[in-house]
Amino acid sequence: METVVSGIRSTGNLHLGNYFGALRNFIKMQHENNCYFFIADYHSLTTHPDPAHLHSNVRQVLSEYLAAGLDPEVSTIFVQSDVPEVTELYLLLNMHVYIGELERTSSFKEKVRKQPENVNAGLLTYPTLMAADILLHKANKVPVGKDQEQHLEMTRKFARRFNTMYNVEYFPEPSAYNFGSELIKIPGLDGSGKMGKSEGNGVYLFDEPTAIRKKVMKAVTDQGPTEPNSVKAEPVENLFTILKVVSSPDTVAFFEEKYNNCEIRYGDLKKQLAEDIVAVTAPIRERILEIQKDEEYLRKVVKMGAEKARESASKTVAEVREIMGFKKF
Ligand code: TRP
Repeated sequence: METVVSGIRSTGNLHLGNYFGALRNFIKMQHENNCYFFIADYHSLTTHPDPAHLHSNVRQVLSEYLAAGLDPEVSTIFVQSDVPEVTELYLLLNMHVYIGELERTSSFKEKVRKQPENVNAGLLTYPTLMAADILLHKANKVPVGKDQEQHLEMTRKFARRFNTMYNVEYFPEPSAYNFGSELIKIPGLDGSGKMGKSEGNGVYLFDEPTAIRKKVMKAVTDQGPTEPNSVKAEPVENLFTILKVVSSPDTVAFFEEKYNNCEIRYGDLKKQLAEDIVAVTAPIRERILEIQKDEEYLRKVVKMGAEKARESASKTVAEVREIMGFKKF
């Protein structure tokens, strides 16, 4: 059994792309691995969030992941800041991390470009904190998207460096958890590219049905086919891609045929698509609302998660301290 660690950003609601992409794989993966999922609230501090929103953001993200199917009885689900051992490992690792390599990180360079007024040390050492998250549980696997590959590569480098420096075989070098062909990419409703928060083209699990219908009805299409069996333009192909994920094969076949006969009415397609999306999201939205108001359940989940996470975290930190030469008087 592999140990998997995955950090979840503490801001932003889940959209269909998240749900049908990584999240469904997480839900499956839980049963085959020893999984640690945590809400990365320390990481969010790099952008100086309003203290009035920090907790509600964590709570919303946690409720959404639980509602979507992460199971606290199967996985270790916790809030990063509930496991303070990570900050100690972060400090210790930082002693062997060089300013030059941090400055060369793509995500850091991008932040410097985007927010030159707030280039803080937390931003610079973001990769060390992420490495600490992963190494704290001696993970072998980390599910990461393209944008996080460099961070994972740095984690491997830091693990190797630690092992070499102290002449131990202590930290495993974690590799990317590969979902292979199972990772479905959901396009946005704006005609091109994938669904994303920053793109503003998403349908969210927490959206009300009326909002979903509105968004889908406004989705970009084209003038409609003029010749039978013509190739679909990207915006139309995108609607079919989403339809294939949320609708029955019969529904997909029906609209394919209409398209191929040049009889398609995009209004009908969109109405059906909206209803089938609502059928997926509405029950999850209901569960999110239920979980959000269940103080006791949420408290129980994070307490249980923190306890389990602190078990392996404190063991690692104690061993690392010993390797580095700290001794009790
Ligand atoms: N940096 C990741 C992101 O932006 C979140 C993250 C923090 C993470 N720590 C992690 C992911 C550890 C995997 C493992 O998405």
